Amino acid sequence: MSLCNFYLITDTHFFKNSLGAFGEAYDEFMRFEQKCLAETEAINNAVFSFLAETEKTDTILIAGDLSFNGEKESHIGFIKLLNKLKEKGKKVFVVTAGHDFNDTCYGYSSEKGKYKVEATKRNELFDLYYEFGFKDAIAVDKKHLSYVAQIADGVRLLALNNDGSDEIKEGFDNEQLEWIKEQANKAAEEGQMMFAMNHYPLLAGQPILSLISSAVQKNAAEAVEVLADSGVNLVFTGHMHNQSINEKTTESGNKFYDVCTGSIIAAPASMRFVTIEDKYTVDIKTEPIPDFEWDTNGKSFKQYLSDMFDSMILNMLEDMRDNPERMLHKLGIKNEKLKPVFGFVGKKLDSITVDKTTRLLAVKCDESIKKMLLKDFICKLVRDVFSGNQTMKEGTPEGDTLLRVLRRYNFILKRIKLKNTDGEPVDLFELLKHSAGNYGIDDYNAVLKLN
Ligand SMILES: [Fe+2]
Ligand SMILES: [Fe+2]
Repeated sequence: MSLCNFYLITDTHFFKNSLGAFGEAYDEFMRFEQKCLAETEAINNAVFSFLAETEKTDTILIAGDLSFNGEKESHIGFIKLLNKLKEKGKKVFVVTAGHDFNDTCYGYSSEKGKYKVEATKRNELFDLYYEFGFKDAIAVDKKHLSYVAQIADGVRLLALNNDGSDEIKEGFDNEQLEWIKEQANKAAEEGQMMFAMNHYPLLAGQPILSLISSAVQKNAAEAVEVLADSGVNLVFTGHMHNQSINEKTTESGNKFYDVCTGSIIAAPASMRFVTIEDKYTVDIKTEPIPDFEWDTNGKSFKQYLSDMFDSMILNMLEDMRDNPERMLHKLGIKNEKLKPVFGFVGKKLDSITVDKTTRLLAVKCDESIKKMLLKDFICKLVRDVFSGNQTMKEGTPEGDTLLRVLRRYNFILKRIKLKNTDGEPVDLFELLKHSAGNYGIDDYNAVLKLN
């Protein structure tokens, strides 16, 4: 008999379609978007119908970025879906995040182009989502929109939020860290198993993401120490729309796991089914989102979302070729001298094969991928980083070819001095190897031992 189970979804990014998701401005916006917009209402409807009807559990957790970008209408629409879950007897616990409030929000229409719609302020979120966590909480930190809920006998959820003001956005402030310690100690004293839910990852989803400051919460290392050393050894996160499970052992020897779940509205579009077997054993299973009502031109829903992800990458490469200036601007690179380099690389990427590339680099290419276009190789690599269980491992044609390149040019990689989000120097060879291939915990299905 397990202690409890629940479905966890995240980054629902619900967008009320009546606000408009059409026209030229919409198409332009979507060229570089990883997530759906017009489809989000249909996807959310399908996911919530499934969750309302499932007999596997009566508990649903949602880890933030509930609305697309903080549109008031989107929140109202989303709360209707949450209420439907409640009517079916489900207990719903949510946290909000950065995409749930905004100064300015937009809709897109053929007539008006990109136009302003009513936005939601952060101080409205407590009341809006009061019924879905705060109301039945046993402790509330209203300033930080955080709470503790008794989700089952012996199991407590520590629902955390840290994106209030600019200072809070920098990570958990001291006041919040104290509150976390207090709640964790209380849970331990009372013999309760406690785990956390926080929108922003505390461990980098994949090694390469440890180089991107927005991919990991600020001062995450400190937060991990505080949580793990106070007996909270597991956090569920979202935000980067990637699927991963990572672990770390603190200096005091305590284990910590970050289970990051992808968005339901972007590839790999999945949901977690979690069983807390006992105080120290958690079973994680991953399920694809259900089919939704949308014309996918005959494609499977999985393929449709995967192609959408690829088109974002391919559009970026295309833009490198056709509009290098705009691409530099998008990436925040100010060096004008890179413009012709970007243009040149963009042009080459359009037609060069993996074989030609490896020959230029004086490295042997695996026979079976010789004809593959380099841009398709890059696409697969990036898609893998987000999908998890990355396939380009040692022993595969792609993995072996990539590793040959990395080994040959490791003398250059060694000269590039980079630090990760924890401020530690990185071994670029190892970082790239483990980003292209997953050698660690299965990112989809795993049994976690918390002690
Ligand atoms: Fe998100
Ligand atoms: Fe986010």
